[in-house]
Amino acid sequence: MASIVLKRTQHKVSLRFHFGLWKVTKSSCADTVYAAIKAGYRLFDGAGDYGNEKEAGEGVRRALSEGIVNREDLFITSKLWNTFHAKEHVNRIAKMQLKLWGLDYFDLFLIHFPIALQYVDPSHRYPPEWWGDDGKSVTLGEYRIPLQETWTCMEELVDQGVAKNIGISNCSGSIICDIFRYARIEPQVLQVEIHPYLSQEPLLKFAKTLGIAVTAYSSFGPQSYLELGMDKGVTALFEHDVVTSAASKVGKTPAQVLLRWAIQRGMAVIPKSNSSDRLVQNLQSEDFELSEDDMKAISGLNINLRLNDPAEIDPRMAIFA
Ligand SMILES: NC(=O)c1ccc[n+]([C@@H]2O[C@H](COP(=O)([O-])OP(=O)(O)OC[C@H]3O[C@@H](n4cnc5c(N)ncnc54)[C@H](OP(=O)(O)O)[C@@H]3O)[C@@H](O)[C@H]2O)c1
Repeated sequence: MASIVLKRTQHKVSLRFHFGLWKVTKSSCADTVYAAIKAGYRLFDGAGDYGNEKEAGEGVRRALSEGIVNREDLFITSKLWNTFHAKEHVNRIAKMQLKLWGLDYFDLFLIHFPIALQYVDPSHRYPPEWWGDDGKSVTLGEYRIPLQETWTCMEELVDQGVAKNIGISNCSGSIICDIFRYARIEPQVLQVEIHPYLSQEPLLKFAKTLGIAVTAYSSFGPQSYLELGMDKGVTALFEHDVVTSAASKVGKTPAQVLLRWAIQRGMAVIPKSNSSDRLVQNLQSEDFELSEDDMKAISGLNINLRLNDPAEIDPRMAIFA
């Protein structure tokens, strides 16, 4: 079975499949996580921002208490939200998130975005999301936290055993170069948007050079953004001729082909599904191989189409410009 070894801790992530928790419905999240563990998922990708950490933790604890898995079998990721980048907040919020999950440590803790926003007290509003109390304006300019300050606090999370590994998300080459100038503990994982419409070849190459494991998010491209009205009107990847033709050759679904394309390029994937059938289907994407021609044809769909871009919320957050 394919595996990824995290360089610093030599932690062997024996499955390339994480289960994505963004938009997993809060009311059914505990049941979904429990069902996912029963189906064979061992890695879960959460975040403070997803607003379902307590419920995800309930699902995990149910599986642990029934002896379906041990804690060491699981790999739980969470993320630091933008409003908690300051040195006085990182440790406190990470520990609060652990408490929500009902866990003693995270296997991986990521900086969600290289963007520091105005602090919001969790007792006032949690998760704080992007906006202020008016639900419209982003408070950015007044709050100046350099990423080095945040990264140093992330390193302290490792020292204190709060997180076994630390990493980054939504970072491009220049930010990564900068972190490597001062990191005492280098980022182990880079989580970024990657799908055939945004294949990110140079970033993948750079991560490989540095020895950072890459996790691709939104593997199905526009699918996840349809319900948010953010799919940019492109042809669904599930319906694209190149993908459906590759799928019929291997007798798999377009979703499985999209996951396999990412895995074959050396990445981990984190498909999300609220459906018990589809979450099982997604997990079955490791037992076949795409031909070199189909890999090339799918990669050829790249149009540098980014669906998750904070600049669309506020132009001062153009981190991918
Ligand atoms: N670091 C970041 O900033 C960031 C940003 C975005 C996402 N992420 C992470 O990445 C995970 C995955 O990304 P994502 O949630 O954007 O999208 P995704 O996994 O690419 O797509 C999810 C969408 O595809 C549907 N779907 C799932 N499996 C399917 C299948 N086999 N056939 C047909 N449709 C299927 C889901 O619907 P149903 O639920 O109805 O099945 C949902 O609409 C997230 O959950 C999150 O953990 C991280």
